[in-house]
Amino acid sequence: MSRYHEVYAAWKKDPEAFWAEAARDIDWYNLWDKVFDPYAGEYGRWFAGAECNTAYNCLDRHVLRGRGGQKALIYDSPVAKQTKSFTYAELRDEVAVFGAVLQDLGVKKGDRVIIYLPMIPEAAIAMLACARIGAIHSVVFGGFAASELATRLNDSKPVAIVSASCGIETARVIPYKPLLDKAIELATHKPAACVVYQRPMAMASMIEGRDHDWEALVADAKARGRRAGCAVVAATDPLYILYTSGTTGEPKGVVRDNGGHMVALKWSMKNHYGVDPGEVFWAASDVGWVVGHSYIVYAPLLHGCTSILYEGKPVGTPDAGAFWRVIAEHKVAAMFTAPTAFRAIKKDDPQGEHVKRYDLSAFRTLFLAGERADPETIKWAEAHLGVPVLDHWWQTETGWPIAGNPVGLGQLPVKYGSPTVPMPGYELHTLDEKGQRLAAGQTGTLAIKLPLPPSSLPTLWNNNERFRRSYLTEFDGYYTTSDAGYIDADGYIYVMARTDDVINVAGHRLSTGQMEEIVAKHKDVGECAVIGVADAMKGQVPAGFIVLNAGVNRNPADIEQEVVKLVRDEIGPVAAFRTVMTVPRLPKTRSGKILRGTMRQIADGDTWKMPATVDDPAIFDEITDALQSRGMGEGGKSNR
Ligand code: COA
Ligand code: AMP
Repeated sequence: MSRYHEVYAAWKKDPEAFWAEAARDIDWYNLWDKVFDPYAGEYGRWFAGAECNTAYNCLDRHVLRGRGGQKALIYDSPVAKQTKSFTYAELRDEVAVFGAVLQDLGVKKGDRVIIYLPMIPEAAIAMLACARIGAIHSVVFGGFAASELATRLNDSKPVAIVSASCGIETARVIPYKPLLDKAIELATHKPAACVVYQRPMAMASMIEGRDHDWEALVADAKARGRRAGCAVVAATDPLYILYTSGTTGEPKGVVRDNGGHMVALKWSMKNHYGVDPGEVFWAASDVGWVVGHSYIVYAPLLHGCTSILYEGKPVGTPDAGAFWRVIAEHKVAAMFTAPTAFRAIKKDDPQGEHVKRYDLSAFRTLFLAGERADPETIKWAEAHLGVPVLDHWWQTETGWPIAGNPVGLGQLPVKYGSPTVPMPGYELHTLDEKGQRLAAGQTGTLAIKLPLPPSSLPTLWNNNERFRRSYLTEFDGYYTTSDAGYIDADGYIYVMARTDDVINVAGHRLSTGQMEEIVAKHKDVGECAVIGVADAMKGQVPAGFIVLNAGVNRNPADIEQEVVKLVRDEIGPVAAFRTVMTVPRLPKTRSGKILRGTMRQIADGDTWKMPATVDDPAIFDEITDALQSRGMGEGGKSNR
């Protein structure tokens, strides 16, 4: 019997009492004036008046209570051919020293620090060091290009950047330093200092006066006995800013606070993920994404678990058994990754032969998120791993699951295609365009009745107005998730599609609007549209359509290649933007709106309906031809 319904009802009856009880699992310097202050911030603030420190709760607290000798972090890198672990005491010491290094470079409480690092332990150390001294980190994913990094520099205005000489993508070494130098050159805001972790695979050249060698600074700080103490911060102070895609080209700076974040994450570890302190938890993601922030670094450490930081891929490092090796070697109890990783494994090892090579007896549960977990992938994983495979739904904005199957409270029956039920904290409704609640089974926008629970974003960095416009104004009294779906009669949620321009490529959140802005910069492109097309492995991939300016008589294939390069140079390889088609014109409504939704249905091979407002129906034949010339859009039928 699951306790879920009872616990959800208890939260609903008295949300403040519920979260005050959960907050007892956190150490505070000063308790709150109000568990929830509805008059503060944009929609209220959690634990207003309380004081705390996130790094203290992740590390020092456990050392003081006898966990100092337990492994806190295991770094496992098949690409660097290295495994290394840190006990809680060791990690606390490294974090305290690096906190002092940052302070010596002039970083103070409330200052921003950009972290542009691959999946090495220094990423977690730098994040926790910022938390320790009360600085606000902003981690930038390694697959982004220099101009994306520059945008984040200009918006967050960091005092310092922490980076490394290179990342490793399967067998390729990707030098980071040239990207960093280029970003600083492009940005109007120049940080005073860069700390660079030199990796032997590609050493970076350093700029005198600005760049500092990580190891030299740390050695010097240790020699001088420098260690930063834990700063006392307000529960409502920002812990980090994480930029995410959505609605326009400019990424949104999602702000996370200290107090509410700790409370919700700590609660989720036992109640949602069903793990106990001392157990090994593995989120196979990247610290550049929210999953990495929450479930590689903060939540497992808050809970006293051992967390795994894996620098590798599900396939090719060296084979499709990589995940099973890590699970077996480190005795992982619960794992969390994106369905796309499992589709990649399934493609390389359809019969699950690699699974049989490893002892997975300690492994209990697999969690999937980041994109809809398709039933085929879930069934494959269930059959080969023999453990529950549970989809759960969340966003960068929330930092923890909106909906899931809470194994810690007792697993609920799995319905394939559904991430199960809302977590306590989330009152979820399906709304129509007018904001009216829809009945069970009816599709609309999934919206969360305000207030959002602890850990959810209080605002966007330096942009309250954009926060309100992006999330709060569409439906009065609700936060819009920008996900469309429905809730069935049993209260199970089905998340089907985004209502905005966001697409999900290999579990990476990207904006087609941003891609369009870049494609439109090409001098020969008159008009363009970018849509997300269904892809068997990555879930979705972007596809671009361009209309050339009148009088351009260059080879369209050359222009298409230049457009691909433009997007790769501006957003980065992570955009996976490889397909561009030149078409004579784009389908539009009579008022000039591009009919991207219908284009997507054609590309996906779905049955589509001729929009009544279309300018000229023949344009869809041209789009279909272009798609079919690239092997897309086969099987699509119009019911015109
Ligand atoms: N640094 C630099 N480049 C990166 C990068 C990083 N951290 N991450 C990805 N890239 C590059 C890749 O090398 C690839 O480059 P290429 O175009 O030169 O080949 C490009 O970005 C696209 O990467 P991706 O879409 O990830 O495709 P892939 O074929 O390399 O890998 C998967 C496909 C499914 C194996 C991989 O995406 C994966 O493991 N996904 C798991 C999902 C995940 O971690 N999601 C996070 C949320 S849970
Ligand atoms: P991100 O902010 O990168 O975590 O991406 C959030 C978006 O990914 C959500 O708004 C959804 O569109 C999608 N998403 C995440 N998890 C799921 C899931 N389990 N099912 C369906 N969509 C999901």
